[in-house]
This record gives sequence, structure tokens and C-alpha cells, in this order.
Amino acid sequence: MFSPGPVVLERGHGSHVFDVDGNEYVDFMMSFGALIHGHAHPKIVAVVSRAVAEGSHFAAATPAEAEAAERFTRMVPSAEVVRFANTGSEATMLALRLARAHTGRTKFLKFEGHYHGWYDPYCLNGHSHPVEQLGSQENPTKIPDSQGIPASVFEDVVLAPWNDEAALERVTREHGRELAAVITEPIMANMGCIPPRDGYLAKMRDLARQYGALFILDEVVTGFRYAPGGCQQLYDLKPDLSTFGKALGAGFPIGAVAGPREILDRMRWSENMVLHYGTFNGHRLTMNVVAANLDLLSAEGAHRRLLAIGDAAIAGLRDVFRRRGIKAIVQGFGPMFQIYFTERDAIRDYRDYCQYVDTKKYSRFVHGLLERGVYMTPSNGLHWIISTAHTEQDVEMLVATTDGACADLS
Ligand SMILES: Cc1ncc(COP(=O)(O)O)c(C=O)c1O
Repeated sequence: MFSPGPVVLERGHGSHVFDVDGNEYVDFMMSFGALIHGHAHPKIVAVVSRAVAEGSHFAAATPAEAEAAERFTRMVPSAEVVRFANTGSEATMLALRLARAHTGRTKFLKFEGHYHGWYDPYCLNGHSHPVEQLGSQENPTKIPDSQGIPASVFEDVVLAPWNDEAALERVTREHGRELAAVITEPIMANMGCIPPRDGYLAKMRDLARQYGALFILDEVVTGFRYAPGGCQQLYDLKPDLSTFGKALGAGFPIGAVAGPREILDRMRWSENMVLHYGTFNGHRLTMNVVAANLDLLSAEGAHRRLLAIGDAAIAGLRDVFRRRGIKAIVQGFGPMFQIYFTERDAIRDYRDYCQYVDTKKYSRFVHGLLERGVYMTPSNGLHWIISTAHTEQDVEMLVATTDGACADLS
């Protein structure tokens, strides 16, 4: 949280935001990653203005929903069909329900430090804790992220460390046949930005298959950001189900579950259906935005530019830290990365994050940036976001302000 109080923003344009006192910032938070095209992109503004004048939402199928789904299934490799909801949390909730119905099993495997939204059974070991409280690698202690969740909910959760093939083999050998699903973020995005080790996700998919559990790839953060088809395209993975949100809605509330018809058809109306209700599912305004957004993201060069601007920012930051002799790493690549003040060469998992990252120093650093016109959350567990609205000038400005903020750090 910002000290002494929150930043109160009034408006945004492109990659810049303006607070109530008239201060201007370059925004690298981009609404937790939702604003893939920055603020008030002219095409999105035009689409919303037209759609709202025609009626924002009907309890009916709309051409806009079909257009959004057609583009979605063209871009996401594993999406034979897609179902729209309103948030990433709804999408991951639905994916687990589908997996349980499909397999007839109840338990699922979740990894330390991963966040999949605020549905009860996902809310454990998602916050940083002193390492003494974490239990062993072999038998991690389950630590609820919230009050108000019955302990019984966590009996169905098998918890394991991430990025560790040996641990994965051990835990699936022990519990594999009871698992409805294995759910993972492809790039761990809620302890900063932690990419998977080479081959790790493919191994996870293979083990899930071997034991008859569904492999759920939670692309709420990574979807439509790293490639038109998200991390499943980037890493050449074929998840059984994948979940989306954030960038898919270009600033509007959205969630989606994608997968084969065989599984998603379980939601068809019948006595034995998998229930997925929601007044605002397939919201007409949002569906228009999704279709327009996916057209923008399909344009030649859109992802190349996201990657190039992000890589330039990463290189510039690394250079400042090196020149100033500051022990910090910039982890990630392209459109998403995080800065860790650490003596380590890399942060590879939740336990590394809990032990080796100076999160207080990061907060001081970000406050220094804020004074100099860069808007980013002081929470080290989130990550820097590049949108298609960011420019080379924004990167230059970030590098210059980082140099200034480093001077205050000692
Ligand atoms: C990986 C991941 N899954 C799911 C969610 C939940 O999405 P929402 O906040 O839209 O409910 C988030 C939110 O940050 C997330 O990072």
C-alpha cells in the first residue's frame, strides 16, 4: 500500500494517468494487467459508446458474443469452445467445477505462491510468510490466505512447491489418482514474475494425463499478453482447460474458460449439467470490447511490439542497477517483469521469494518512483505491465527515474 495514503487517480490516457491534484504519471500497473491497450484507446472508446447506445445487455445470445468467441477460438490453440464469465475468479471456479464433474474426483493439486482468485479452495499459501512457517518441501503447511474459510475446504487441496520436477513426481505418485485437476499459472505472476524451468510445464501436463487428472492452465494474467494464444502458444502446451480474464477485456470485467467441447458441453441445460449461472455472463458491452480488443491484438506486430518495449525496459533497469552497484535483479521477459532486491541470481519459487527478497526496499524504491512520475504498486508480489500504449519515451523516462530513485535507496 502507498504511504501515507492511496493515490487517487482521476483519468487516464494511453500509458499515462493523472491524479486528483493534477500530477501525471506513466502507468506500469495498467489495472493489474487488464489494460492491454492502455487507457481510453480510441477504438475501445468508439465501440463502447456505440454499443451502450444500442442497449448494454440482453438476457439473450448476441452477435457480439459470437464474434468474441469466434476470435477467441481462432487465437487460443486449446480452445475448441469458450465460455464467458465476468472475472478471472469466476473462470477458475468454473474450471474446477468442470474438472470435478468430468473426472468424478474431488481433490486438486495447487502450488505454493500461486493465486487463482478468491474462491475458497484456492485461498491458501498465496501470501508471503517467514520460511519457518512453511513446513517442509515434501509436506508444506497449509496456510489460509483469509479468515472465513472452513478448514474442511482445504482437505481437498493437495499442496506442492512449484518449479520442482522431483516434488511433482512425488506428489502425483502419492495423490495422482485422486486428483480432478492440477492447476497452475504458466508464469508465476503473484510472487512477482517467475518463469517456469525448461520443460517443467510439459512434465506437469504429462503427469496430469498419466493419472487421469485435468491440466488447467490459469492464463488470467498471461493470456493474450505473451502471444496471441497466450503462454500455451509460447510454450507449445495443450491444457485440458484454460482460464482467462484481465487483458481479454481491455479494461472491462471479463473471465473465460476454454477447452474441448466434450468438457464444456457439460454446462448444457440438462438434469446432470454443470451449473454456471450469472446475470452478466456474455455481457453485450464487454463482448463488443472483447471482439475489438482481439482484432487489435491480431494486428501484425502487436505482440512483437509488446515484447520489444518490455525487453527494452528490462535492459534499461538492469543497466541502472549494475551501474549503481545495487543488488537487484529484473526477472521476466517482454510484457511482464518484476524487480527483486536480492543477493540471489534468480528467484525460482515461492520459498525463494519468502526468504531472499527485500520487499521493504522495493516499496521504498517504488515510492521514490512515484515522486518522480512513475505509477506502480509498492507490492513486490505483483509485476510490471507493458501495454501496446507504452512508448520508447516511457521506457526512457522509467530508466531516468529509476536512476534517481536508486540514489535514495542506500
Ligand atoms: C493467475 C490469476 N488467476 C485468477 C485471478 C483472478 O482474477 P480476477 O481478479 O479477475 O477475479 C488472478 C487475479 O489477479 C490471477 O492473477
